[in-house]
Amino acid sequence: MDNRPIGFLDSGVGGLTVVREFMRQLPHERVIFVGDQARAPYGPRPAEQIRKYTWEMVRFLLTKDVKMIVLACNTATSVVWEEIKAELDIPVLGVILPGASAAIKASRLGKIGVLGTQMTINSDIYRQKIQSLSPDTEVTSLACPRFVPLVESNELDSSLAKKIIYETLQPLKGTIDTLVLGCTHYPLLRPIIQNAMGPEVKLIDSGAETARDISVLLNYFEINAARDAAEKHHQFYTTASPEAFQKMAESWLGQRIEVEHVKL
Ligand code: DGL
Repeated sequence: MDNRPIGFLDSGVGGLTVVREFMRQLPHERVIFVGDQARAPYGPRPAEQIRKYTWEMVRFLLTKDVKMIVLACNTATSVVWEEIKAELDIPVLGVILPGASAAIKASRLGKIGVLGTQMTINSDIYRQKIQSLSPDTEVTSLACPRFVPLVESNELDSSLAKKIIYETLQPLKGTIDTLVLGCTHYPLLRPIIQNAMGPEVKLIDSGAETARDISVLLNYFEINAARDAAEKHHQFYTTASPEAFQKMAESWLGQRIEVEHVKL
C-alpha cells in the first residue's frame, strides 16, 4: 500500500482527459495535476524547450512526494519520456505506447491514422511504435496544429471548431479504419472528430488507454492506495489563470476542484 498521490502533467487542460478516465477507474487514488498553460501549446516549440519545461513540471511534482508520474502529454512523451524514466526511481508513464498498442488491437484492416501536434508527428514515434509491434500496418500521420488552441480557448463545439476539424481531417477520410487521438487535448473535440470521420472509424483515446496501464503498474509495484485512506484531496496547479483553468476543468471532470497558480 502507498497512499502518496500520483502526479500528472501536461502543457494545458488536455491532460485532464487522462485524469478524468483515471479518476473514474481508480477513485480512491489521489491526483496532483500541473498544466503549463502559460506556455501552451508545446506542439510548435523546439524539442529543447519542451524538454526543459517538462523537467520543470516533473521537479515540481517531485516536491509533492508523488509515487508515480504520468506524462499526460504526447508531445512531452515523444521528446523526453525515455530520459525522465531513466533518471527517476519512481515509475514514469507516457501516453504513446498505450495508444499505439490499443490502435493495433482495434484495427481490422491494418490502416491506422494518427493525429498529433507538429512535434509528435515530426518525431514519427507513433508510426515507429505501431510498426515495431505490427510491421504490416499502414500508418498515416497528420499534424493538427489548429486543434490545441481551440481547446485551450474553450471552443469545443463552435462552428469555427467544426470548420477547422472538418477541413483538417479531409485528407484522411475513407483511408483508415482506426484513428489515434495522439494528443491529450483531442478527446475534448471527440464528437466533432467522430462526425468528421464517420461512424465506421474507431477512435482511440491514448489517455484512456494510459489510465488502464496506470492501474496495472500500481498492482505490479504493489503501490495502490488503501481504499479507506484518509480524505482524498486532489490538487490542481496551472502556470496561468486559476479561474479560467478551474472553469474548464470542473465542467470536464464534473466535480468541484481547487486550483492554485504555480510559477515553475
Ligand atoms: N496535450 C499535449 C499532447 O498530448 C500537448 C498539446 C500542446 O501543447 O501542443 O501532445
